[in-house]
Amino acid sequence: MHFIQTSQFEEAARQKVDEAAWCYLESGCGTEQTLRANIKIFEQYWIRPRVFVPMQAPDLNTTVLGSPVSMPILAAPIGFQRWFHPEGERASAQGTGQAQTLYVASSSATTRLEDIATAATGPLWFQLYLFEERDVSAELVQRAEAAGYRAIVVTVDTPWYGRKERFARGNYSMPGTLLKANLDEHASGMVGSQYGWEVIDWLRSLTRLPILLKGVLTAEDARKALAHGVDGIIVSTHGGRQLDAALPSLLALPEVVEAVNGQIEVYFDSGIRTGTDVFKALALGARAVFVGRPLIWGLAVNGAQGVADVFAILREELEYAMMLSGCPAVSCIDRSLLREAHIL
Ligand SMILES: Cc1cc2nc3c(=O)[nH]c(=O)nc-3n(C[C@H](O)[C@H](O)[C@H](O)COP(=O)(O)O)c2cc1C
Repeated sequence: MHFIQTSQFEEAARQKVDEAAWCYLESGCGTEQTLRANIKIFEQYWIRPRVFVPMQAPDLNTTVLGSPVSMPILAAPIGFQRWFHPEGERASAQGTGQAQTLYVASSSATTRLEDIATAATGPLWFQLYLFEERDVSAELVQRAEAAGYRAIVVTVDTPWYGRKERFARGNYSMPGTLLKANLDEHASGMVGSQYGWEVIDWLRSLTRLPILLKGVLTAEDARKALAHGVDGIIVSTHGGRQLDAALPSLLALPEVVEAVNGQIEVYFDSGIRTGTDVFKALALGARAVFVGRPLIWGLAVNGAQGVADVFAILREELEYAMMLSGCPAVSCIDRSLLREAHIL
């Protein structure tokens, strides 16, 4: 079956994975207001195309914290990937490498981070949850650095894990065999709510790797992040899985971009389903976007190849958007190409 939209992967994945895994993947928190808004908000932005811009083919190449990637579309950290395919994170990292872009391994991976690094063929970053026990986080950072990961992505929107009511209501649970492969059995696995901004200084003392914060949604926090010397920000609502009614990521992006004022790279995630979504996030100032659920649909349907196929769809859609709007390179995609209008 040749799919031409990511939504076809969603339908096919739904048939393949069990009900509990599907609910875990698709759910958000609370009433899922933010989950829905993250997707809907893209329809409030319209592309203002330019004509008579000569080009052969659009150039999608870019860099992310200095690492070259073939397009500004990257793989978001997602936990428990072996619930969706027996090869789990290894297959996702391989499919991402096939698309010549960047994979972020999750702290909740079901594969050892060293084994993900061995399987991967593209650049890797490591996503860190700040655990209650500092030693657990410190060890993960040091292992990631030793294994060749190029940056640490600290997820900051999880002082507590969000309540996934849909999952709880369905009385679902995770299979007992699905283990977080990077945490030893004595670690509580609980994220720490005791941390303030100084924890960034502590992390800095542990590693020479660049540090990004994932889950910043306001100009106030972006300015604090700059003051603490972070190397990048990912504007994210965790795919609508943490604070319900938090403002959708796309609404937050411009204020963070403005506060940062070009001093560090700003990335985006939550709600990307098409290449025009990617285009709009770039136009609002994102250096690149991360994709979550659609890649897991690809993984569930066809392992590494499925992940590569989802990337190929998003890539092609972005290419068309660039060709038809007169943008020969991703660096040309700017705010002047968008108009905001609520007409749907
Ligand atoms: C099933 C699932 C598991 C996730 N696990 C993690 C995780 O372990 N660490 C993390 O920082 N974010 C995690 N996220 C959030 C993603 O990194 C990303 O922010 C989100 O999926 C983006 O939204 P999208 O799915 O609409 O693309 C998870 C998201 C989903 C759907």
